[in-house]
Amino acid sequence: MTTAIIGVGNIGSALARHLTSGGEAVVLAAKDESHAEALAMELGPLARAASVEDAIADSDAVVFAVWLDTTKELVAKHARLLENKVVIDPSNPLGFDEKGQMTRTLPEDQSAGSVVASLLPTDAHFVKAFGTLAADSLVSGANRTPRKAVLFYATDDDAAATTTERLIRAAGFEPLKAGGVAAAGRIEMPGGDLHQFGLDGQLLDLDQAQAAVASLAMSA
Ligand SMILES: NC(=O)c1ccc[n+]([C@@H]2O[C@H](COP(=O)([O-])OP(=O)(O)OC[C@H]3O[C@@H](n4cnc5c(N)ncnc54)[C@H](OP(=O)(O)O)[C@@H]3O)[C@@H](O)[C@H]2O)c1
Repeated sequence: MTTAIIGVGNIGSALARHLTSGGEAVVLAAKDESHAEALAMELGPLARAASVEDAIADSDAVVFAVWLDTTKELVAKHARLLENKVVIDPSNPLGFDEKGQMTRTLPEDQSAGSVVASLLPTDAHFVKAFGTLAADSLVSGANRTPRKAVLFYATDDDAAATTTERLIRAAGFEPLKAGGVAAAGRIEMPGGDLHQFGLDGQLLDLDQAQAAVASLAMSA
């Protein structure tokens, strides 16, 4: 299996490092191809660089580790190539105002995951994942002992869930499904109760994470 990682910034580079450390093959792409090439060189034989188009074409799963507006553009441009692929979306509905303050870019009742899912071909396998921790925690939280930290994901698709669990484990975390795409907002920020920012910065183990997933149902 090959995973394309589109974007090699904070999230894409951390993920590429963890996945290759866990034995997964990755193909990396960026806006500036030299950024993907430099990271691929550093990561060794399990990583290579390609254009966005070739990376998607040559992969089984595609992680869009880019900002939401870029994901929307790239999904529209490469829709045909995404047919039958697992499409992994770590984006948050975040932007910055003129004072540099973080702002929400979507209405409160709309998740970035639901927006990306709605743009995909019907036979793509969509999953929200790998955006539930701040990038520095994603870097430092892998292979935690004695109990691994959980990465939540959200999907309605069994094939996407199987692939995502494999990748989360290879990256050194414990996977836990938060729900279907309708639950994507719970693992996004701002506002998601299962995003690290909604958990006072904590990384949860599996027991804590299962209790947190259930807590909304209990309080409803
Ligand atoms: N940073 C966090 O703590 C964090 C946490 C959770 C989720 N997220 C989400 O993860 C996503 C990525 O965030 P980030 O912090 O990793 O961003 P980032 O550091 O700014 O990196 C963005 C990457 O996107 C690439 N890119 C931009 N336009 C592109 C295009 N047209 N085609 C291909 N690649 C393109 C850039 O390429 P170049 O290298 O060539 O510029 C860069 O590698 C965002 O949606 C964000 O909401 C971030």
